Amino acid sequence: TKREDIRNIAIIAHVDHGKTTLVDELLKQSGIFRTNESVKERMMDSNDLERERGITILSKNTAINYKDTKINIIDTPGHADFGGEVERVLKMVSGVILVVDAFEGPMPQTKFVLKKALELQLPVIVAINKIDRPEARPEKVIDEVLDLFIELDASEEQIEFPVVFTSAKEGTSSIDMSKQEDNMEPLFESIIKHTPAPDVDAEGDLQVLISTIDYNEYLGRIGIGKVERGNIKTNQDAIIVNKEEESKNKKIRITKLYEFEGLSRVEVKEAKAGSIIAIAGVEDISIGDTICSIDNPEPLSFVTISEPTISMVFSVNNGPFAGREGKFVTSRQLRERLFKELHTDVSLKVEETESADSFIVSGRGELHLSILIETMRRQGYEFMVSKPKVLFKTVENKKYEPMERVTIDVPEEFMGSVIEKLGTRKGEMVNMVPSEGGYTRLEFSIPARGLIGYRSEFMTDTKGNGIMNSIFDGYEPFKGDIPTRSRGSLVSSEQGTSVTYGMYHVQDRGNLFIHPGVEVYEGMIVGMNSKTQDIDLNVCKKKHLTSMRASGSEEALRLVPPIIFSLEEALEFIEDDELVEITPENIRLRKKILD
Ligand code: GTP
Repeated sequence: TKREDIRNIAIIAHVDHGKTTLVDELLKQSGIFRTNESVKERMMDSNDLERERGITILSKNTAINYKDTKINIIDTPGHADFGGEVERVLKMVSGVILVVDAFEGPMPQTKFVLKKALELQLPVIVAINKIDRPEARPEKVIDEVLDLFIELDASEEQIEFPVVFTSAKEGTSSIDMSKQEDNMEPLFESIIKHTPAPDVDAEGDLQVLISTIDYNEYLGRIGIGKVERGNIKTNQDAIIVNKEEESKNKKIRITKLYEFEGLSRVEVKEAKAGSIIAIAGVEDISIGDTICSIDNPEPLSFVTISEPTISMVFSVNNGPFAGREGKFVTSRQLRERLFKELHTDVSLKVEETESADSFIVSGRGELHLSILIETMRRQGYEFMVSKPKVLFKTVENKKYEPMERVTIDVPEEFMGSVIEKLGTRKGEMVNMVPSEGGYTRLEFSIPARGLIGYRSEFMTDTKGNGIMNSIFDGYEPFKGDIPTRSRGSLVSSEQGTSVTYGMYHVQDRGNLFIHPGVEVYEGMIVGMNSKTQDIDLNVCKKKHLTSMRASGSEEALRLVPPIIFSLEEALEFIEDDELVEITPENIRLRKKILD
């Protein structure tokens, strides 16, 4: 039977195309928001990192009541796949809304998620948003979406997607481009009409598949998933099983059961097949678990969580400046924080080491770990990290390494340097097609090793005009050594200043970091502006390398170790025996041997 009172839908959008505004508007119009409640504060993605990097890290649930139907909207991680999360989220829904800016058109960042949705045969509603923009070019954008669907092998039904024109900002929508209605009803109606109601076996034995895990101090671990079969009630006994883990076979009692309402969870006594629910109070509930009736414990299969491909050492900061900038600095605090992360991030691994001060943290690529580091930094943690290490696999005495599939959109003028640099890093170009507005799209298959530190170099090389996305692409036999980038050695200068790999000794008064992108070559002339204390760097050999960013008083120069401007930049320059010091205020390269 069909649960006509429910629609489960995922939302896919490129950053800034208006997803949050759109969902807020739907919430407002459905009457869930009381007028004095601040919408901005309760936005779907609370993590400002997501905004900055244009990615969504955790999927979140919103539920909206429209007439007699409850619409569960699930946010999808827009960028890379941190361990099968996209697929697990998409398995809960029976349709997706693709939000596309009426001017910008579809962007490569959402391609990966869209591809997964199309593979799962989900019907797509295309919301052409920001239709109010004077530069809007909706017809052209629809063509671009169509091209993208064809490129991604959409099925015939999927290609005949319904389109809704929306202005999330003005709260209007329409099916007919020429007549914008002054509410969101056309979009609501489209969702009801084009997203199938969940098809359920309401009478069968209970099965709830846990798809994501949330965590909160009061409730502990919270499992979120769809009731696939039967119904679930508080105070009932159930059994928890896992297809991949036969040992997990435990009797539990359902004590705390929730459904979603607006942006919150509300406690319920009962939930039926087709509903998306949250369960708290079940110790070590995990992704992939199935909660079943006692009489018929049948585990459902789920998307396996992929193995980590990269690891880094996280340790307590024990340098001369330790503890001056961070709120949380001790090994206990670091340990607690890292282990807490495991509650919600299933693709992360944390291992203890012989030293109580160091932990090995493994995840899905450099970006995955960078996000964790940045988040902790913003929360007030101070610690140090090592150079990322790729995790090889040995099968029958052969060494395999993780590969990445990289998609790059660049203006033509920068193509040459991208191709050359990735070539040196053992990247193999697999595709090259012209895309919108003078951009070319390049696709590479490259060892994960080859991408370490490349992002910031790429941004410099393309003067910030390039877009780069990468995704894990399986294991391949070891591709051989990648030549390390020369970081230069001693250089001469007027004052006899020496420069060693990006660190600049100002006549022994201190160290400064040279902005990445400024490579150090013999023959550089380095000078210091005595008035402003700015460092000037004149380059003889490479004309386009001009200046570096650095300033500070002499006193500061003496005290401050080299300053690095971003984590990626630090990781680009770090060597095996060095550490990057992470504090809420600074990211610095610290020369230190891990012993
Ligand atoms: P993130 O939250 O950063 O992932 O982006 P998002 O996709 O959720 O976009 P968000 O809703 O934050 O909107 C991005 C910007 O576009 C904001 O400045 C909005 O005010 C603006 N915006 C959203 N919808 C519309 C629209 O329909 N018309 C116009 N003109 N601007 C819009």
